[in-house]
Amino acid sequence: MATRKPPRRRAVPEGTAPEPVDDSLAALRDAAAGCKRCPLWKPATQVVFGEGPARARILVVGEQPGDAEDLEGRPFVGPSGRQFDRALEELGIERSRLYVTNAVKHFKFERRGKVRLHKSPNPSEQRACRLWLEGELARVRPRIVVCLGAIAARNVFGTTFRLMRQRGTWQPLPGGRAGFATPHPSAVLRQRDTTSREAAYRGFVGDLALLLEPPEEAL
Ligand code: URA
Repeated sequence: MATRKPPRRRAVPEGTAPEPVDDSLAALRDAAAGCKRCPLWKPATQVVFGEGPARARILVVGEQPGDAEDLEGRPFVGPSGRQFDRALEELGIERSRLYVTNAVKHFKFERRGKVRLHKSPNPSEQRACRLWLEGELARVRPRIVVCLGAIAARNVFGTTFRLMRQRGTWQPLPGGRAGFATPHPSAVLRQRDTTSREAAYRGFVGDLALLLEPPEEAL
């Protein structure tokens, strides 16, 4: 898919976002492009909105775009995305059938020389961004929600969710939906040696394999 050009920013007051012009996913995306609800819009290149079929059965939520995603304007196209793609391929799941998005739509980073280092979004930034994820969930209406990492999981399952205790187990969601969480694919890349990397990757694939046997009520 082609790299997206950053949309022109509309004149939107700080702390606010444009209203979507209608109930469609496209209108939500257009409105999000001008979001200034938290300060992350300023240093970022662009909003990285979700992508995938507007009626996808499975919606995947990550934390926030990284350096590559910020520049390209698409979710999970950098190193973490490559781990995700590799796992999906191994399981025989086509990414083009999934709607892939993030809990926070702007890249938060700290500059160290030429490098932009990822920084986790704080609770107020996550809260400010929540309406976009809620809007995507309401419009796509997936049956299954997959959370990559603790921040995604807490935004979907609530703040009492404990990733390391509850990873890889189906969780009920309102409206007969179901979901599960797995550690973020960047955790695979952070492992120091090949053995730990392979173990973390195997755990990641093992959790995602739940998609091959969804609970009946989510079908
Ligand atoms: N990490 C995420 O959580 N999301 C992305 O889109 C890229 C990296």
